Amino acid sequence: MVLSGDILLTIFIVHLSPLSVWGYLESGGNSASDRLENVTQTISRILDGYDIRLRPNFGGDPLKVGMDLTIASFDAISEVNMDYTITMYLNQYWKDERLAFSYEAEVLTLSGDFAEKIWVPDTFFANDKNRGFVPSFLHDVTERNKLVRLSGDGSITYGMRFTTTLACMMDLHYYPLDSQNCTVEIESYGYTVLDVVMYWKETPVRGVEEAELPQFTILGYETNDRKERLATGIYQRLSLSFKLERNIGYFVFQTYLPSILIVMLSWVSFWINHEATSARVALGITTVLTMTTISTGVRSSLPRISYVKAIDIYLVMCFVFVFAALLEYAAVNYTYWGARARKKTKQKRDLMKKQTSVQTPETTEADIIELQDLRISPLPSIRSRSGLASGATTPAAVGAHDRGHFPPSFRPARYNARNSGLRYRGPRQHKPKVFHALKRGASVLKASLPKIKDVNVIDKYSRVVFPVSFILFNAVYWTFYVF
Ligand SMILES: *[C@@H]1O[C@H](CO)[C@@H](O)[C@H](O)[C@H]1NC(C)=O
Ligand SMILES: *[C@@H]1O[C@H](CO)[C@@H](O)[C@H](O)[C@H]1NC(C)=O
Repeated sequence: MVLSGDILLTIFIVHLSPLSVWGYLESGGNSASDRLENVTQTISRILDGYDIRLRPNFGGDPLKVGMDLTIASFDAISEVNMDYTITMYLNQYWKDERLAFSYEAEVLTLSGDFAEKIWVPDTFFANDKNRGFVPSFLHDVTERNKLVRLSGDGSITYGMRFTTTLACMMDLHYYPLDSQNCTVEIESYGYTVLDVVMYWKETPVRGVEEAELPQFTILGYETNDRKERLATGIYQRLSLSFKLERNIGYFVFQTYLPSILIVMLSWVSFWINHEATSARVALGITTVLTMTTISTGVRSSLPRISYVKAIDIYLVMCFVFVFAALLEYAAVNYTYWGARARKKTKQKRDLMKKQTSVQTPETTEADIIELQDLRISPLPSIRSRSGLASGATTPAAVGAHDRGHFPPSFRPARYNARNSGLRYRGPRQHKPKVFHALKRGASVLKASLPKIKDVNVIDKYSRVVFPVSFILFNAVYWTFYVF
């Protein structure tokens, strides 16, 4: 029974199927080829008599052009050029009644070339920096990245993918602890608000969350539209702005941490014996030079802006600290060796005094010249010291004597100097008084300062003062710039 049933079914199928299958194939094949022919005819028909130069609804109400864009990637942000490079998909939507061919639901996706046969908006980026054609760089792998989608009622979706470099004026006062606001400005080049009005679609921007930037974090974005008044009329401008925050990590490791370590390295000098001159000077100079190198590296990645940036303040302060450490050694060395030298000269002077009191004064020709020089010396202290000696010789005799020994060009000067000295006796007597007053003031100041008997005291204080002031500076710096 089973077998006979099968046979029956087979016979039934064999008898019926050829007709039905044939009929199906015939009707389907015919409609497909009909439709293709119909579309070709439709396109030819709608383009027949189409004037590409006139906007849709010419002379009537302004055409509404919707916009949306998808961020494919942020490619680079350059502080030196003040711009950024971005790849995106831009879609424009409008309705051209001349292109209506049937009911709305029918949609034809056509090749990008079709856009060259119909009117398209002359959209451009107001802050675009490329000098090429607009849009800056339309991708053409494997074909030009363009699409045209035509609906039966004449609505058009016109999309493209391109890379463009847009200007973004950055405020670098807080660099590298700054955040920037970069924009995409979209506008119609030729059509004023009387002809074309652009607007953002309901979901104007996509892909911002997925976009990755090596040096920045995208905090958010905002879309705006406004009317821009230019010389040729009022234009509708759409703008999209991104809030970008710079990631500090790179700078911490490249600039801040090395600078901190260099400053700390300069303090090592305070623990080295002050007599190890070469060690301490070498350490000081090396740290100063290293700070210079670090700041040069930072400067090379920035434009030449005149104002002070946050990083400049930090680097300059580190430089000051390192430099102060070097000066500290100079002070230590001077205090130490200066005290010794003073002691030595005092001993020598005492010895000389004893010798001169024993020696009989004999004035040679060279001595006279020397004394004369001292007398007209601009330093009152030397003059006063040699006052006794110059009194011993008569000026006229000396003048007559030594004039022959000097080149002619020197003579008038020396002569005038002596003459003027005679003429302006008043002020010259006044000068030493001022000098003495100053000297007295200096000595009072010196007495008020703590007498440094042991030079190690300077080092001992520096070991505390330098780190504490550096920590204070850091606290002020970071609270000001971060919070
Ligand atoms: C083309 O197709 C439309 C429906 O899509 C139909 O109304 C029209 O008659 C067809 N035209 C031709 C020439 O076949
Ligand atoms: C960026 O700046 C513009 C103009 O100053 C402002 O309108 C916009 O809101 C800012 N964008 C963000 C995300 O802060």
